[in-house]
Amino acid sequence: MKTRIIGTGSCLPANVVTNDDLSQIMDTSDEWISSRTGIRKRHLAKDETTASMSIEAARRAMENAGVTAEEIDLIIVGTVSADYITPACSCEVQAAIGAERAVAFDINAACSGFMFALHIANAYLQCGTYQTALIIGAETLSKIMDWSDRSTCVLFGDGAGAAVVRADEKAGFLAFDLGSDGVKGRVLSGVNRTNNNPLIQTPKELQYIHMDGQEVYKFAVTMVPASLHKVIEEAGLGVEDIDYFALHQANIRIIQSVAKRLKVAEDKFPISLDHCGNISAASVPILLDEMNQRGLLKPGMKIALSGFGGGLTWASAVLEW
Ligand code: ACO
Repeated sequence: MKTRIIGTGSCLPANVVTNDDLSQIMDTSDEWISSRTGIRKRHLAKDETTASMSIEAARRAMENAGVTAEEIDLIIVGTVSADYITPACSCEVQAAIGAERAVAFDINAACSGFMFALHIANAYLQCGTYQTALIIGAETLSKIMDWSDRSTCVLFGDGAGAAVVRADEKAGFLAFDLGSDGVKGRVLSGVNRTNNNPLIQTPKELQYIHMDGQEVYKFAVTMVPASLHKVIEEAGLGVEDIDYFALHQANIRIIQSVAKRLKVAEDKFPISLDHCGNISAASVPILLDEMNQRGLLKPGMKIALSGFGGGLTWASAVLEW
């Protein structure tokens, strides 16, 4: 029995902000951002929330899969930017779509969140606990950005992507590889609400995402090819058997470097970061949905997925579509 993706969906905020728009409000330029990152624009939420985008992405994925809310057993949302500490975003999705039978919870594995959630669902489906799951990656990163830090805020965007997965006899996931390195975690961090109990004289001010970009770059370009090699081998395949590599959309230079290290042509690496920026846990499912909508995914194709980022965490998988 395998775990198969049977439908995808995504939702981006209505407001598009180009690099030129950003250069009107901070000391940056389209040339600096696009040459270093490949990002040309991103969607930033105004009225949308992490939950509202998750709900819309979920509805689209369920429609694409031909699945009703009654059939959903499990909902997992990967996010670092849920609207509430509680209820979980997944519980808001459950309520909105009316998936009354579903068990719902969120996980935090930053940019690997969707991939970690897929792996959890895979385990449940493999042991027969659940049959059909809704897996979502969703972020409103713009609310946790320091908009006075031009080296970080220009990289990120908002959005949500979803996939419906189901136990299947034939096609589906062939292998997973997950890892974490908490020792290096502070190279990409965001402090939560700090303690303000009566014993604290001066509560700390709210803090935002902080990143050591060069350290993150070094981590990604070594760990991602290693993880992909491992998972492809475990699937009993060679790099040349993979039709597409759907990677977390952090930075075009990371993707180009991974392609070079794997000795694979760059056109096997579809891109959404040019129009979305980096949307952390939502990057991989949004990219998958765009590939699906464009008709790139054909039955029998072998697709490698990889998420990597905060924690530090990474997660790769190979599937047969
Ligand atoms: N516009 C104009 N100039 C800028 C900007 C900006 N938005 N941001 C920084 N600069 C300036 C800096 O002030 C610095 O100027 P100085 O030399 O006068 O001091 C100069 O550009 C170089 O700054 P660096 O931070 O050293 O820039 P770097 O060349 O490292 O590029 C980048 C930054 C693109 C983030 C790079 O480190 C990188 O590719 N990192 C990969 C990690 C990544 O993409 N992370 C995304 C999130 S993590 C994840 O999803 C896994």
